Amino acid sequence: MEEIENQIEILITEDGSSSLRRKDLQEGYHSTFGAIAESRHIFIEAGLRKVGKLPEINILEIGFGTGLNAILTIEFANKENQSINYQTIEKYPLKKDIISQLNYGEILHLEEEFDKMHKFSWNETNELNPYFTIHKIDKPAEEIVYPKDFFHLIYFDAFAPQFEEKLWRKEVFENLFLSLKKGGILVTYCCKGEVKRMLKSSGFDIEKLPGPKGKREILRAIKS
Ligand SMILES: C[S@@+](CC[C@H](N)C(=O)[O-])C[C@H]1O[C@@H](n2cnc3c(N)ncnc32)[C@H](O)[C@@H]1O
Repeated sequence: MEEIENQIEILITEDGSSSLRRKDLQEGYHSTFGAIAESRHIFIEAGLRKVGKLPEINILEIGFGTGLNAILTIEFANKENQSINYQTIEKYPLKKDIISQLNYGEILHLEEEFDKMHKFSWNETNELNPYFTIHKIDKPAEEIVYPKDFFHLIYFDAFAPQFEEKLWRKEVFENLFLSLKKGGILVTYCCKGEVKRMLKSSGFDIEKLPGPKGKREILRAIKS
């Protein structure tokens, strides 16, 4: 685990939800136009909602960070009575004193769930409630061997290619492609030409969708 605590600053985005920024990279964890609004738009509405109802949905997240995508997924699971198995990878786990300053639990009325999810130990499977099971892994995502033909959905939410070059590589996308079931979906905020080309050559069909406020387009890639 690498420590990055002294490089993190906290901020409030336009929709009132908090976010973080890495000072060393000059890179934010979310859009300053609204962290919750952005994550809902990209990962929940363009990704999870598109999967449809299943007995259980297996989700892989690349970049757990603040846990915002996870808590929005918990909100979805609870509201839709949808069983979800969530696996999430993080190279730089955040310390408690930073997590305790995030306001997602409060805004979403899921304070208990937000605390519980963060308190679960890394590298083991934990049941948050009858609808939601989570397994957090504290390793670089590019070093993990993923199960084949397993996930219905991938949230690819790493820092931008110029900051995490090892992750935005064809070998990584090929592995993620293999880890998805047929019809499985990968969603990401990044619409760069090079990313689209790597996704296509890894086997994905891609579609550009309108982005959240401040972002013209996002990407949804499908294993057809
Ligand atoms: C854009 S932030 C988004 C985080 C998260 N989804 C959220 O809502 O807070 C990207 C995250 O990817 C993590 N990360 C960076 N490199 C990584 C790597 N090689 N493997 C796994 N996670 C990584 C960062 O530490 C950061 O938490």
